[in-house]
Amino acid sequence: MDGGDGDALMQRLQAGAARVEATLEALLPASSAPYAKVIEAMRYSSLDGGKRLRPFLAVESAALFDVPEARALRAGAAVEMVHCYSLVHDDLPAMDDSDLRRGRLTAHKRFDEAIAILAGDGLLTEAFAVLADSATHPSADVRIALVAALAQAGGKDGMVGGQMVDISPDRHDLDLDGIKTLQALKTGALIGFSCQAGAILGQASAEDRARLTGYAADLGLCFQIVDDLLDVTSTAEDLGKPAGQDIEMGKATFVGMLGVEGARAEAERLAESAAERLASFGPRAQTLRQLTRFVLERSN
Ligand code: IPE
Ligand code: IPE
Ligand code: MG
Ligand code: MG
Ligand code: MG
Repeated sequence: MDGGDGDALMQRLQAGAARVEATLEALLPASSAPYAKVIEAMRYSSLDGGKRLRPFLAVESAALFDVPEARALRAGAAVEMVHCYSLVHDDLPAMDDSDLRRGRLTAHKRFDEAIAILAGDGLLTEAFAVLADSATHPSADVRIALVAALAQAGGKDGMVGGQMVDISPDRHDLDLDGIKTLQALKTGALIGFSCQAGAILGQASAEDRARLTGYAADLGLCFQIVDDLLDVTSTAEDLGKPAGQDIEMGKATFVGMLGVEGARAEAERLAESAAERLASFGPRAQTLRQLTRFVLERSN
């Protein structure tokens, strides 16, 4: 990616993030209800932060099929809510015990553990309400397909299953394939949903869906390898979240298995492979292809 392409992509990412922010703000308005505290914690945990990579994938994959952006943004906001819930719970003392997220106090530090758990529960549940609303798509069949796909990606055979493997006592014994499975579940599944959302909204052909599935699988693995690399090579100040945690907690990562150089080479291979999988979409998929470089070269 030369400088010009990189600048154009960064501008697209920033503009996309601003539209995601506005969508989330509209979906999660501040409240004076007796339970306003949990809404405040949901807003704290989902507004004003993060790269918004998953909603960007939903919007860009939907654009391949000429889906109106307002619909794609709702699907993107839904997956971002599930992602933010996963971060709130991942940071809890019972899990990674992190104090810092997106450059701010984690939800359980800013509020308390009980409120953080409820805020995560609230975000998870709200995501499905967003998908089920007719504003997301006029066809109930399409909405049900989105709900089913997000449940699959976020649940026991997806992100939750991956988090289970990540905290299980025998995670130290995982081989390379075991680590790949862990990463595909923990991170790949929601990234996979984000790309599928565009195809579902666009009622795309099975061939096009399969291309996006392949892209997301490579990109998701690349993304988590880079997350693991940054955990070793970066600082909390740059990351906006703790560094050095994976080694401290004995997490099984590609970096632990292949070393920094080997993990970087694997991430590069996956980024190239992801881009190639979208070749047949032609210029329409240029942003998604360029995004593979961003995922590889990002610094937080
Ligand atoms: C962090 O995800 C958690 C992982 C799955 C590695 P992101 O790096 O996308 O976090 P934000 O949304 O930009 O904060
Ligand atoms: C967590 O992975 C991914 C989730 C499903 C939340 P990590 O524990 O590596 O994420 P970070 O590094 O805290 O963002
Ligand atoms: Mg974790
Ligand atoms: Mg963590
Ligand atoms: Mg990490």
